[in-house]
Amino acid sequence: MKTYSIKTLLEGGGSFLENKVLINAWVRAFRSYRFIALNDGSTIKDLQVVVDSKFSEEFLKKITIGAALKISGLVVKSRGKEQTIEVLAEKIKIYSETSPEVLQGTILQPKRHSLEKLREQAHLRFRTKFFSAVMRIRHQLAFSVHKYFHKRGFLYVHTPIITASDAEGAGEMFRVTSLDLKKLPRNSQGQIDESQDFFGRSTHLTVSGQLEGESAAMALGKIYTFGPTFRAENSNTSRHLAEFWMIEPEVAFYELSQNMDLAEDFLKYLIGTILEHCTEDLDFLNQRFVEEQKQKPKHDRLENTLVERLEFVNRMPFIRLSYSEAIKILLASKTHKKGQFKHTVKWGMDLQSEHERYLVEKHFRAPLILFDYPVAVKAFYMRLNEDEKTVRAMDVLFPGLGEIIGGSQREERYEILLKCMKELDIDEKLLWWYLDTRRFGSAPHSGFGLGFERLVQFVTGMSNIRDVIPFPRTPKNAEF
Ligand code: 4AD
Ligand code: MG
Repeated sequence: MKTYSIKTLLEGGGSFLENKVLINAWVRAFRSYRFIALNDGSTIKDLQVVVDSKFSEEFLKKITIGAALKISGLVVKSRGKEQTIEVLAEKIKIYSETSPEVLQGTILQPKRHSLEKLREQAHLRFRTKFFSAVMRIRHQLAFSVHKYFHKRGFLYVHTPIITASDAEGAGEMFRVTSLDLKKLPRNSQGQIDESQDFFGRSTHLTVSGQLEGESAAMALGKIYTFGPTFRAENSNTSRHLAEFWMIEPEVAFYELSQNMDLAEDFLKYLIGTILEHCTEDLDFLNQRFVEEQKQKPKHDRLENTLVERLEFVNRMPFIRLSYSEAIKILLASKTHKKGQFKHTVKWGMDLQSEHERYLVEKHFRAPLILFDYPVAVKAFYMRLNEDEKTVRAMDVLFPGLGEIIGGSQREERYEILLKCMKELDIDEKLLWWYLDTRRFGSAPHSGFGLGFERLVQFVTGMSNIRDVIPFPRTPKNAEF
């Protein structure tokens, strides 16, 4: 007898009729000691297994919610309306018994649990409908990222996780050391002697694979990275993680407008694959999303359903607007005039999420690509514009989320890059290899970073980023 996944069985439907099959799965529900709803994670749908009187009541009592079972049985036409086929159990093996008392207090108890409670039991939340749906969509998105780039001739480059350089120049890095913190070696001046550390220097977890990615693009043409990145910023928000995954394409000879085209096409492709391939999971999350909106105060509610939002973003051309134009719009807004922005608007400021959301959700009601930001608010590697006040930066802003992508055309001119680094006090000795790329065969190039969890958040409609990654890392939280 062959073992099948529930997805295969349900999709095969009628073609399995009168076949004997084996299934390994967990109990989602057990009604009237007669109908077991089984799930194995392959699909959001459950398989109905019917048990008859050949199983003793004593045995059936051991089948509790969450228990792992091996069932062999015959596939028959279902009498219920919910499904086309069901399985008549012939043999049932209970892998391990769980007493109902043990389930008390866990999220496996069949009732509605808050997302906070699910997070506290993150090791068990894979077993819930909602989180398994999010996980399947996350997988499909990751798979589609590789597919998209592979088809277009991009090479996947693995950039290091341990690094001695601060790619974003923001200093929000986690230190990596093998020194004994209780017995730190000191030099003659009493400072920590980093030469005795594992790498013989100070090292950190990377905040971005971009700088190494750029060196690769300067020979391989089109590359992308997709790896974990780390930020020690103390942001306890619904959009920040201390450990998140980032996708960073880098393309030689691309100027900023081509970079924008790539970002827009890439996002639309990814969202499109979910609309096409994840309909069941998406329908489930859509219902959740609609219910959640109903519980919000009217002014906070989003008018569209999740699916409508995804279709909308897929259809609409993204609006492209310079930072300076955006500031003009913000200054002319009622919100500004009534003093309702927490951070006062003026040219040169870094846009806060309230401003981004005003532009995307109130003013344009469409995805937005902002470009040409003031030099002072962006990283050192961005190409200086002729006005010498702005750089060729771009941020893609999405409704309900804000920034989903940050990128730029890079400064390919050696002298200007060096000058910028000096002005920002960035150690040119540490980044000698990065500067070298501007000395040998330098060329215009551009790239961007897509925050993978922000994308999963947008696609699944989850309001908190901690609910789209298995084990979130946030300030004061590294359980599991
Ligand atoms: O805008 P960021 O900081 O850009 C870079 O790191 C560039 N090196 C990318 C590049 O040009 N190759 O980060 C890029 C994206 C953001 O737009 C956001 O989606 C996500 O990464 N991101 C975070 N996601 C979750 N938690 C955080 N703390 C994040 N910080 C950035
Ligand atoms: Mg950014």
